Amino acid sequence: MEKLRISGTNPLFGEIAVCGAKNAAVAIIPAALLVNGVCRIENIPDIKDVRLIIDMLVQLGASVTYVNDTTIEVNSSRLKTHVAPTELASKMRASYYLLGALLGRMNKAEVALPGGCNFGTRPIDLHEKGFRALGATVEIEDGIVYTNAQELCGCTIYLDTVSVGATINIMLAAVLAKGRTVIENAAKEPHIVDVANFLNAMGAKVRGAGTDVIRITGVPEMRGGCYSIIPDQIEAGTFMLLAAAAGGEVLVRNIIPKHMDSLTSKLEEMGVNVTEYDDSIRIERSGSLKGISVRTMPYPGFPTDLQPQMVALLSTVKGNSTVTEDVWENRFQYVDELRAMGADIEISGKKALIKGGTLHGSEVRATDLRAGAALIIAGAATEGVTQISSPHYIDRGYSDIERRLRSIGVKIERIFEAD
Ligand code: EPZ
Repeated sequence: MEKLRISGTNPLFGEIAVCGAKNAAVAIIPAALLVNGVCRIENIPDIKDVRLIIDMLVQLGASVTYVNDTTIEVNSSRLKTHVAPTELASKMRASYYLLGALLGRMNKAEVALPGGCNFGTRPIDLHEKGFRALGATVEIEDGIVYTNAQELCGCTIYLDTVSVGATINIMLAAVLAKGRTVIENAAKEPHIVDVANFLNAMGAKVRGAGTDVIRITGVPEMRGGCYSIIPDQIEAGTFMLLAAAAGGEVLVRNIIPKHMDSLTSKLEEMGVNVTEYDDSIRIERSGSLKGISVRTMPYPGFPTDLQPQMVALLSTVKGNSTVTEDVWENRFQYVDELRAMGADIEISGKKALIKGGTLHGSEVRATDLRAGAALIIAGAATEGVTQISSPHYIDRGYSDIERRLRSIGVKIERIFEAD
């Protein structure tokens, strides 16, 4: 059985560079299906979810060339089908972007309901609402989403809930539609802006991304071009929280500090020294920290994708803290693993009530991508050895993780134990 083995606790020192944003890449790569030409996409993260989405594009008829580990060229001039490979599509959440891209390009799509991390129900009703408003029919049968349209016509769509996926998927379906589409109550995450910038670089007309009203004017065709993906806000935040938990001084490089504002503010409230530079942030933690309250919200609020990592940090900080999960209905399953390490956490509805203290090493299991990252943080901040099974979840979002963490002093290795 494969595990990540971590020996804590020693302070961390050095620099760590952040890769391209996973949640931008898994949307931008499918968006290349809309382009009748070659898209050169740079700074993609070399992670499992990206390799999976690329495999799906190839099976749809796109040709994908790896220029290097982080650069691909996608040619979608001659797609051969609108039917996504079911066995691949059901493995990850972002496969639903194939719906918007294929509907936008071919007026039809067949894609298995997405898989992905399990935080309770993960509906796609808002995606369906957007496609129907644009003139498509949407049916779901035996776990497959079927959508098609005679013609896609722009319209105004109000999103009842702020949804990253629905905002992006409607953008993808609307860029080649006739007329203007307005998305109201749109999500504002950095990766939404990145997808809009990519689409515009390929000839689309998307305005207002990053605000809660996005306006799209349909164009007849999108040609090729070149685009570089933004740094990963969540990977950057994970490294910042790791440095705060283990102590020492770490420079997190190749980031957009503005994207980190909500986390920076919370770390400073705890007593962590945070210094911002143009494209990096230095985290210094020497003394004790204090407990705080955190509530997850859509951007620019505190990201839900940093919630487990923040809970791990707060579990090691003497004092009482509360973390409220306001985006997902059930994103505390990983807490049992932290409890196995001695964490004192009580879950009451959407709130985690944390009595921070000293943890101990333990055998634990990654239950999803960010929960796995939280266990790495807890292990690095704890005396003794922590072994994390199911590290494949972590590999979905963090490339080459043990080598990169060792470069700042984390005692981490990947081991293979007989089952
Ligand atoms: C994206 O998921 C991210 N995944 C998630 O990151 C992230 O947690 C989430 O956005 C919120 O930021 C990718 O980008 C691949 P949503 P998504 O639609 O698009 C409800 C990670 O760790 N909702 O913004 O699925 C939904 O139930 C992953 O990288 C509807 O009700 O999230 C949730 O409560 C984990 N109907 C809320 O909206 C819909 O049709 C936000 O979901 C869609 C969503």
